[in-house]
Amino acid sequence: MLTPAELARDPSPLTRRVTVDGVEVVVRALRPDEGDALTAFVAGLSGTSRRFWHGDTDDAAAAGDWIEAIGRYDKLRLVAEHGGHLAGVADLSFSLPDGYEITRYASYGHPLDPARTVRFGPCVADAWQGRGLAAALLPPAWDAARLFGRDRVVLFGGVHAANQRARRFYRRHGFVEVGAFDDCVDMVLRLPSEGEAQP
Ligand SMILES: CC(C)(COP(=O)(O)OP(=O)(O)OC[C@H]1O[C@@H](n2cnc3c(N)ncnc32)[C@H](O)[C@@H]1OP(=O)(O)O)[C@@H](O)C(=O)NCCC(=O)NCCS
Repeated sequence: MLTPAELARDPSPLTRRVTVDGVEVVVRALRPDEGDALTAFVAGLSGTSRRFWHGDTDDAAAAGDWIEAIGRYDKLRLVAEHGGHLAGVADLSFSLPDGYEITRYASYGHPLDPARTVRFGPCVADAWQGRGLAAALLPPAWDAARLFGRDRVVLFGGVHAANQRARRFYRRHGFVEVGAFDDCVDMVLRLPSEGEAQP
């Protein structure tokens, strides 16, 4: 099975060109030289997107954490790039630390198997929202999950209950709601196996 370190050395298994709203975008793993581009992406988010994405974390520090984690730990970050700018990102995490998703899902009577589960969180630049970019990020993200042997996807930190746009997006792409905590909702997706129809 592939590891994040192998993918950092050779990102080609997850690199592809997709057309989004008539524009060609490259989807691939985040590169170590993209700290400034990632900082600009986070800094450019509107207040609403920022609130639903990661709150008030310092932009450069958040980007630095992602760059530092490339090829290490349990993380894989996909980016959608157009003309040297990042249009969207997808955060994948292959660990389930106690006290978070694994604990919440158990409390709903929906236990997660850590060997089969990936945590997922997308974010699209405001100018790109509503144009199909997040939808275009899903096939490479699910390919990445499968490369790491995962076939269950849960939302990283859940989705804010007020984030109706995201909830509708996830539902349309097969996620189901399994529980709620604080102001958030937990949703899970079972990835169809190769050749199986989408749910
Ligand atoms: C939630 C989020 C990831 C969705 O990303 P997105 O790229 O806007 O999603 P899509 O464009 O694929 O789909 C959204 C809508 O655009 C529509 N759409 C898709 N392709 C389109 C196109 N070519 N032209 C116009 N509209 C299109 C979809 O039908 C969908 O409509 P709906 O909202 O009425 O259901 C994005 O809004 C976002 O990043 N929000 C801020 C951060 C966030 O909330 N992240 C999730 C944390 S849990």
